[in-house]
Amino acid sequence: MEKTPILEFQRMIYEIKGETAFSYLALARKLAAQGKRIISFGIGQPDYATPAHIREEAKKALDDGFTGYTETAGIPELREAIAWYLNSRYGAGVAPDEIIVTTGAKTAIFIAVASYVRPGDEVIIPDPSYYAYAQVAKLFGGTPVYVPMIFERGYGFKLDIEAVESAVTDKTRMIVLNNPHNPTGSVFTPEQLERLYDIVVRRKLILVVDEVYDNFLYGNVKFKSILEFPEWKDHVVYVNGFSKTFSMTGWRLGYLVARKEAIDRMLELAVTVYSCAPSFVQKAGVKALKGDWSPVGEMVKEFERRAKVLYDILSDSEYIEAYMPQGAFYMFPRVSRILEAKGINVEGLVKYLLYEHGVLVLPGTAFSEGAMGLNHVRLSFATKIDHVIEGSKIIVEALRELSRS
Ligand SMILES: Cc1ncc(COP(=O)(O)O)c(C=O)c1O
Repeated sequence: MEKTPILEFQRMIYEIKGETAFSYLALARKLAAQGKRIISFGIGQPDYATPAHIREEAKKALDDGFTGYTETAGIPELREAIAWYLNSRYGAGVAPDEIIVTTGAKTAIFIAVASYVRPGDEVIIPDPSYYAYAQVAKLFGGTPVYVPMIFERGYGFKLDIEAVESAVTDKTRMIVLNNPHNPTGSVFTPEQLERLYDIVVRRKLILVVDEVYDNFLYGNVKFKSILEFPEWKDHVVYVNGFSKTFSMTGWRLGYLVARKEAIDRMLELAVTVYSCAPSFVQKAGVKALKGDWSPVGEMVKEFERRAKVLYDILSDSEYIEAYMPQGAFYMFPRVSRILEAKGINVEGLVKYLLYEHGVLVLPGTAFSEGAMGLNHVRLSFATKIDHVIEGSKIIVEALRELSRS
């Protein structure tokens, strides 16, 4: 059948792939609406309500009539609060006019990648990674170059710095790094980061760093922010947001940080895409940063407990290579033994767990267009401890059952 003009999209629209986590969220909700009980380790959003003092601030802003457009860069109060937060935590030396407030970290990623990637440019992305970086790169004619991470039994995933170095070519424009890392739950060591940073500086690349999980750290893990590196403003576009830390996923509030000359240019793109972040949400953002952080601390402590429980239960299965996550709220275990034994692919396994056992995990392919996707699943433990216990026991039993079938 001939296509109507309305279906004749430009080629890149066919090239990009949406967020699998959202498709499975919709599917799980549909099954739940049909009366099926689903335990979800799917989408990455804290199960906690946004803390009350933040909600109250948004209500107050609404009642005060603070409902109009704001500066595209964000209200000065919020940019000052973000600068204050980053400077007091990381000694970052950020000025308020080096910040753009965005509608979630996702929009910050869009602006960061869109601002630099030209047709033909290569963008180095660890495999696996959060899916959006590669899609925006492709949209602007770039080519994602995936560098597989290394799995170490008993430790988890590491960056392969030598492989990153050898992936750099004359066409390389950018490296994208997310730390702590979705989907593996890894936190990169200061030493790994220093070596990566050295490549960026030597090869004159842009480094986009997404630290949306920088408050989710477990055990004694040492986290070094990219904002602690010397002269980062010459190399780095920094992304962070409120969704995860303050359990504000639906509010859509994030930000990017870069040197002022770059910000001034990026603002032209930002105003064209979204005008500004919602005004009353920005007020709530100020409260989040400047107000009581104890709900965040309590949530993170609980997440660490869940991580341990999940690890302990999944470790019982010979079909799941579980490990203890160091940060974020994910585990990305390998499940290749069961896939090989049954001759099924990872999507088949995910559907089996969902339809036959009512447990949702995400296929590795949601985080990888490379090899890593094919034999891993991702579990988000941002869900109630009872669900973590029950759901992970079901998974262990379901895989045992499948292996015998
Ligand atoms: C690494 C990473 N960056 C960015 C985002 C998007 O966050 P936001 O809700 O602030 O757009 C996510 C959400 O899952 C993420 O995992």
